[in-house]
Amino acid sequence: MSFFSQLIGTGSAFPEKVMTNADFESFVETSDEWIRTRTGIHTRHIADIRKGESTSSLAIAAAKKALEMAKLSGKDLDLIVVGTVTPDSVMPTTGNLLQAALGAERAFSFDLQAACSGFLYGLSIADQFIRTGAVQTALVIGAETLSTLINWQDRGTCVLFGDGAGAAILTRTSDPEHSILGTRLYSDGTKGDILKIPHGGAKVPHYLPEYRHKDHSIHMQGSEVFKLAVRNMIDASMAVLADHHLTPEDVDFFLFHQANVRILEMCMKTLKVPREKTWINLDRYGNTSAATLPVCLDEAWRQGAIKAGDRVLMATFGGGVTWASGLIRL
Ligand code: ACO
Repeated sequence: MSFFSQLIGTGSAFPEKVMTNADFESFVETSDEWIRTRTGIHTRHIADIRKGESTSSLAIAAAKKALEMAKLSGKDLDLIVVGTVTPDSVMPTTGNLLQAALGAERAFSFDLQAACSGFLYGLSIADQFIRTGAVQTALVIGAETLSTLINWQDRGTCVLFGDGAGAAILTRTSDPEHSILGTRLYSDGTKGDILKIPHGGAKVPHYLPEYRHKDHSIHMQGSEVFKLAVRNMIDASMAVLADHHLTPEDVDFFLFHQANVRILEMCMKTLKVPREKTWINLDRYGNTSAATLPVCLDEAWRQGAIKAGDRVLMATFGGGVTWASGLIRL
């Protein structure tokens, strides 16, 4: 008997505090007009870590909503995968914090780091476990508090990012039609320098003299990332479609990683995606890295833009560099 993974619930969560473009004008040389026209971002949510908001608190809130939609409890989970580059701590993992908070006694859990591709990497890993029969039900999360890794003096990066979390529940089905049809995952470490966090890991820990706080933050070559993100998201989209002998015309809805509205527009133009067949929310949330895709999926599903039977294509690109695509049928 063959097994497949069916998507049965989604959820998302954001910190309370909203930061507008105008808020940046008081500490870096920028303007609401520049940020809107160059990125499409108007506002983003920023976690108040002093009040207990963190990657895990956002992930737990998103997971609870996804479980509620799936009509399941934590006890039903066999696997928890969290895509994040901003875990609360290295040990315990965010996955383990979730496992405890959700009472997911029989689940094994872990974090994975693939930057903005973390959700699709996690979805693919969970799908493999379900297909082998090892796992019945999995929780896949993309959650970040990138505000903790921002150099607030660098106007080229500080305006781009926001905090948030998205969650998806997958369960075993024997129906190949309504399932995760396929995923494609890619990495290219030779291009790692274009988007990186150089200090603060085990190579340059905080106690070495060469450690610089400003290097313990996101460093980005914006135009290089821009070009590679467009090309690789398009190639990954076409590759997963080709695996299933499909073309973009066969797709009902497209969800692209929310990094910059101009990246989205270029992907849409090349793949000939009309505006009504995609979801754009980076105006409200900015780039929430691994959280963008599950949040888009959650909003589009709850608001009726996607429905049972629809083929949904997702594509992403992230630091390191990583990129991925995924094709699901609801
Ligand atoms: N406000 C005002 N001016 C700014 C700002 C800002 N916030 N940021 C940069 N500038 C200035 C630059 O300093 C530069 O000034 P100069 O000409 O005097 O040197 C000028 O604007 C043009 O800079 P560019 O980098 O060429 O601007 P560009 O149009 O490429 O936009 C941006 C920059 C928005 C970062 C763009 O390259 C981009 O979005 N790249 C994609 C990167 C991305 O989204 N990364 C997110 C993580 S990866 C991912 O999720 C895909």
